[in-house]
Amino acid sequence: MKSKDNKIWTVKDVLFWTSDYFSEKDIPSPHLNAELLIAHVLKCSRLDLYMKYDRPLAEKDLSHIKKLIKSRASHYPIQYLLGTTEFYGIPLFVDEGVLIPRSETEILVDAVISYIKQSDQKSWTILDIGTGTCNIPISISNSFKDSEKEIHIVATDISERALQLAKKNIDNLKIQNISLVQSDIFDKVTVTFDCIISNPPYISEREFKELPAEVSEHEPKEALFAKEDGLEFYHKILLNADKFLKENGQIFFEIGAYQKDGISKLAEQCNYKIIDTKKDYNDFDRVVILKK
Ligand SMILES: C[S@@+](CC[C@H](N)C(=O)[O-])C[C@H]1O[C@@H](n2cnc3c(N)ncnc32)[C@H](O)[C@@H]1O
Repeated sequence: MKSKDNKIWTVKDVLFWTSDYFSEKDIPSPHLNAELLIAHVLKCSRLDLYMKYDRPLAEKDLSHIKKLIKSRASHYPIQYLLGTTEFYGIPLFVDEGVLIPRSETEILVDAVISYIKQSDQKSWTILDIGTGTCNIPISISNSFKDSEKEIHIVATDISERALQLAKKNIDNLKIQNISLVQSDIFDKVTVTFDCIISNPPYISEREFKELPAEVSEHEPKEALFAKEDGLEFYHKILLNADKFLKENGQIFFEIGAYQKDGISKLAEQCNYKIIDTKKDYNDFDRVVILKK
């Protein structure tokens, strides 16, 4: 392909030009971002780019790459541009209708998986409130796919768009033991569970203003923002958990970095207590486990 100045753009040229441009625009991991976008357009792996290094780009590929570069340079999330992300080693579809799964949430998944593994109980019912891409249920289901444990997960979300994407992910991975329900928290939930899991919206009004534009301007506000200083959803879940949790059942929450004390107070008011806490990679309290 030749550009207006008659330059022939090879894969290598575009890769280095994009990487430099992303650096100028303060895009984190600029070279990786450049590789991901170019590999996406050329429908190959990042490694394959280096096999095609000196290959000239076709006009239509170059113009597609240019469009993506422009969006990414304006800090539009790369996962939305690619339409996919990875969570717990599993490829998932994402779009603007859902929160992009974060690596911190893998700590929540780890906590649930080790709780189930260390128990003799064979059959488990699990409720995930605010499922988004269905990343949490899918990771749990996948971890037990070859085990003796029988797991059934009900995954809820208030957002129809999130549930459509959750269905696309479940279908793509051919998972059978997850049911999707559109529900405002417990609204449409009718049975009881061994575990209730939630990574609910927990960003307070004050924190929302401090979020990077990449998050606040592009990810769905209803997946991020919560009233009551970010504690709204924990409060609502704890107030009603009794009706939906089996005896000895446990609740697993992902929480904001400074929310443990607030949640502990709410839990006390609702006759629950925090029995364990998991820290994230920055040493913030990130997951709390609660029981009656
Ligand atoms: C922080 S996101 C978590 C998404 C996903 N579980 C994850 O860990 O990446 C919160 C999710 O809660 C959903 N949500 C917001 N309000 C809700 C409500 N009242 N009832 C159920 N889900 C709700 C949002 O649509 C969003 O998908």
